Amino acid sequence: MSSTNFSALFTNFQSVFIEAGEKVFASNYIPNHLWHREEEMKSLVNYFRSIITEPTGSSRKVVLYGPVGTGKTVISRAFGADLTRYLRSEHKPGDPSFRFFHVNCRKTKTPHLILTTVLRQLVPGFPLRGFSVDELLRMFSLLLYEQNLVSLLVLDEIDYLISDERTDFLYALSRIEEGESKIRNDHFSTFPGNHTESRFNLLCCTRDKNFRYHLDSSTISSLGRNFITFPPYTRNQLFDIVSSRAELGLREESYNNDLIEVIASLAEEYGDARFAIELLWRAAKLADREKKDQITAEHVRKAVVSVLPIEKSVLEDLNTHQKLLLLSIARLLCDNRPFVTTPEVKHSYMSVCEEAGVRARRQTQMWAYLKDLGRLGLIQQEVENRHKNGRSMGRVTTIRVRDIPVNEIIQSLNHLIEDSQS
Ligand SMILES: Nc1ncnc2c1ncn2[C@@H]1O[C@H](COP(=O)(O)OP(=O)(O)OP(=O)(O)O)[C@@H](O)[C@H]1O
Ligand SMILES: [Mg+2]
Repeated sequence: MSSTNFSALFTNFQSVFIEAGEKVFASNYIPNHLWHREEEMKSLVNYFRSIITEPTGSSRKVVLYGPVGTGKTVISRAFGADLTRYLRSEHKPGDPSFRFFHVNCRKTKTPHLILTTVLRQLVPGFPLRGFSVDELLRMFSLLLYEQNLVSLLVLDEIDYLISDERTDFLYALSRIEEGESKIRNDHFSTFPGNHTESRFNLLCCTRDKNFRYHLDSSTISSLGRNFITFPPYTRNQLFDIVSSRAELGLREESYNNDLIEVIASLAEEYGDARFAIELLWRAAKLADREKKDQITAEHVRKAVVSVLPIEKSVLEDLNTHQKLLLLSIARLLCDNRPFVTTPEVKHSYMSVCEEAGVRARRQTQMWAYLKDLGRLGLIQQEVENRHKNGRSMGRVTTIRVRDIPVNEIIQSLNHLIEDSQS
């Protein structure tokens, strides 16, 4: 008897995943082929073409906007990797070298930390403390010149920077090239004095449709114009995305196109590729747990319950009051209501705080948190004119939860709030 047969007998179980297949379902996996984003990729190339044609000639700033799971992160990473590879292959002695930085603002939460993270990639061991944001910006600018570099910085999930800090930081970054020549002139007597030189390019990823309205007017002129919108994926597009992940990670006999169809149609409502991929992964895990060699539609249906169409960490990263506020909205919506109004939310929030033994925040702070939840794409607020029996009832602000099953939110938040209090 061969050893493989023996081990098959021994385990008597074959996973639906191929060997190391699970890694293609991980959130940081970048597939070789990105589906249905050719136009968006082309726009990116067009905006940043000058990095290739005149690397130090002008600075570009672009914003990628799209709802959850529409490919902003994966496209920006793939673009950075492709550009790095291309410029490396074309590099001639004396040319500036290209450096790509990708920073996730959910994990790297302040401008100070963002800049030190970037500087540490240029100067290993760069100190984490001791410099102001202005000083760090100056050093970054000088290092780009000193090391003869051209850079592209991606600020992913930029919605997580605190509003005021974000506005100031983007303003400072949008003016970096104006400061650059002056700083270098002061520092390097040999600097050739090309005042238009710039070595810094910026790409911001946001879920906030109103991103540009949070910028001040001078930043809008450099950052607010270059928008690339990532629409939610359609059912057929989700089919292609999930199907190619299945090919990469699963045994061929373990699934069929009908199964992928079921997943695509369940995810269609959100147009969210992450949700679709995670659904397949969870269904596959369930099949493994039940020691089945086929993944079935029933596995998928069971998996739906455990997958939130938004990354769990988004909820985890909310502060306690943001969580309590979202919980109070979700509870109200639990009664099958399409929306709730702000006075109702206030009332519910007070009682949720009381239950949790936490002092409720003042109204202005509560409004600010509501805005944060909107910015993160968790709720939608709209001002509507209401009518009853043909008579105007005035304007009310309605709040809806992004299409997430409210029971799921309630469960997750209850756990998170309990954890944070224990
Ligand atoms: N066009 C595509 N082709 C193949 N896979 C894709 C495509 N778009 C997205 N994905 C996959 O879907 C998942 C979610 O994509 P991604 O993380 O880029 O979304 P996002 O827009 O950044 O979402 P968020 O707003 O939550 O940050 C990832 O696993 C990614 O690899
Ligand atoms: Mg992302």
